[in-house]
Amino acid sequence: MERTLSIIKPDGVRKNVIGEVIKRFEGAGIHIVAMKMLKLSKEDAKRFYAVHKDRPFYDSLTDFMSSGPIVVMVLEGNDVIKKNRELMGATNYKEAAAGTIRRDFATDIEQNVVHGSDGPDTAVVEIAFFFNQLEIYS
Ligand code: TYD
Repeated sequence: MERTLSIIKPDGVRKNVIGEVIKRFEGAGIHIVAMKMLKLSKEDAKRFYAVHKDRPFYDSLTDFMSSGPIVVMVLEGNDVIKKNRELMGATNYKEAAAGTIRRDFATDIEQNVVHGSDGPDTAVVEIAFFFNQLEIYS
């Protein structure tokens, strides 16, 4: 059994597709074992995306990620890191496969509705960024 962090980004919340995203997770047999809505400060967003600190899009991305509330979730299931990435689709919505969350709801490479951890080590760090053990139910 594996866990991953999922974020519905500020554009996803603004577009009113929280339920639509969750429906896709549940429809794929993924279980939500922790969830909350919160708003990141610019500093929080910079810490979360520190791995991208030298990329040209870092300032804009962290402005966007702190522009409104987000929904953060811990997802659990077999092979859930890969499954979640498949449901999300490619980073650039224009390259995302038909029927993926980003293809269906994203309008911009930066404002692409969802985040998902990209590997087991990242998942551990990203889950701990938002949740303590008492907040995760499985
Ligand atoms: P990345 O970790 O490469 O993608 P993913 O979210 O699919 O794991 O990038 C993190 C976020 O940074 C991405 O979701 C959107 C933003 N981003 C840009 O704004 N421009 C870019 O050219 C890239 C690669 C990412």
